[in-house]
Amino acid sequence: MVKKVTVSTIQKYKDNNEKFSVLTAYDYSTAKYIDEAGIDIVLIGDSLAMVALGYETTHSVGMEEMSIFTKAVAKGVQRAMVVTDMPFLSYHTDVSSAVKNCGQMIKLGANAVKIEGFNEHILNVIRRLVETGIPVMGHLGFTPQFLNTLGGYKIQGKTREAAEEILKQAKELEKAGVFSIVLEMVPQESAKYISENLRVPTISCGAGKYCDAQVLVSDDVFGKFSDFKPKFARQYGDMKSLIFECAKKFDEDVKSGNFPSEKEIF
Ligand code: KIV
Repeated sequence: MVKKVTVSTIQKYKDNNEKFSVLTAYDYSTAKYIDEAGIDIVLIGDSLAMVALGYETTHSVGMEEMSIFTKAVAKGVQRAMVVTDMPFLSYHTDVSSAVKNCGQMIKLGANAVKIEGFNEHILNVIRRLVETGIPVMGHLGFTPQFLNTLGGYKIQGKTREAAEEILKQAKELEKAGVFSIVLEMVPQESAKYISENLRVPTISCGAGKYCDAQVLVSDDVFGKFSDFKPKFARQYGDMKSLIFECAKKFDEDVKSGNFPSEKEIF
């Protein structure tokens, strides 16, 4: 029996000054392999809007799609904690529909949910979710669901005052009950200051090396998605070329009569 990663494991990592890893996954087999590789948290990110569904922004993805991907990923994972990113408008209108929508992801196999941003409503939602037994990962700094009000893909927390403001928000999220906080596109020194002043772990998404964990979109890590590449995303493989080569060879084999062989028929 594998020992499941839980909110306590995550807090222990921070308390023991041990780094942990977070990768996105959107399908069963990818989730299975990255879980076997030892990734601690598997996130069904709403980034799937762009990398799996071809939308332009995360706004276009909804509860129905996130539910399908959550079910698939949860089936593939044994050890890691499974976190579903709640889609735009699924937790913004009122607390009871937020609880219902987040609860649906738990019923489908997620162990926690991630919600973006900071305001009084978000704090109320977090409190109610935690009271209901749903662990919550916060998300501050650049928050893609607020892209239009932030005025584009902009680095957040650049000045001392801006870093103080993010820390203030993070402390409020912490008080409301989040078990971790993603810091996206925040300068390294600001993220270091914020991380050192929080009890819960921070997860860097382009926020440098001093956060307690690192998260990347798996399609960037595998070299599969090529429409755009964030500066902070390190590519470890070339799946795009691998897929192209395999498809090309298959196409050639079919057309030349080289597939199927004697071993591949009944
Ligand atoms: O949607 C996503 O994949 C994310 C992570 C990159 C933090 O929010």
